[in-house]
Amino acid sequence: MLVRAFYISRSAGPQTSTITGSILKTALVFNKINQITGVLCQGKGFFLQMLEGERSVINQLYGRILRDSRHKDVEMISLQEISHRKFAEWSMALIDLSDSDPMVTMQHPEFDPYSASSELLSQQIDEWVASGKPIHN
Ligand SMILES: Cc1cc2nc3c(=O)[nH]c(=O)nc-3n(C[C@H](O)[C@H](O)[C@H](O)COP(=O)(O)O)c2cc1C
Repeated sequence: MLVRAFYISRSAGPQTSTITGSILKTALVFNKINQITGVLCQGKGFFLQMLEGERSVINQLYGRILRDSRHKDVEMISLQEISHRKFAEWSMALIDLSDSDPMVTMQHPEFDPYSASSELLSQQIDEWVASGKPIHN
């Protein structure tokens, strides 16, 4: 049973490249072995992540992510069964939403994922992906 989980969270401290680097290092190894794919958007103090894979595997990983002290206020936005993956090529792509990103600043001057619907947030991720923002390894 394949699912896509989508959650948001707030960074516990400043979002440095060291922290992002260490999250991605773990994610790229674990996700590849466990056939998890997805995208991690980070910046402006937030994380938005979509995780695709077997339901039990995603649930176990989500349990660990919930307990990770590098972020807080972890909130599940949606969990849906899927017939095919959206991010099949990426063990974990990264979308960096820097403070100076004109797209985020212009379209969402007060970007706050906690007050947005799952549909809107997922559209926003689709736009970032389509605009070629993801960095993937
Ligand atoms: C925002 C965020 C996203 C994460 N994404 C993943 C991921 O996709 N895959 C992964 O294996 N770990 C990810 N992690 C790391 C896990 O939370 C956790 O550190 C890792 O699974 C190791 O678990 P353990 O420390 O309980 O052994 C992420 C952490 C954060 C803060």
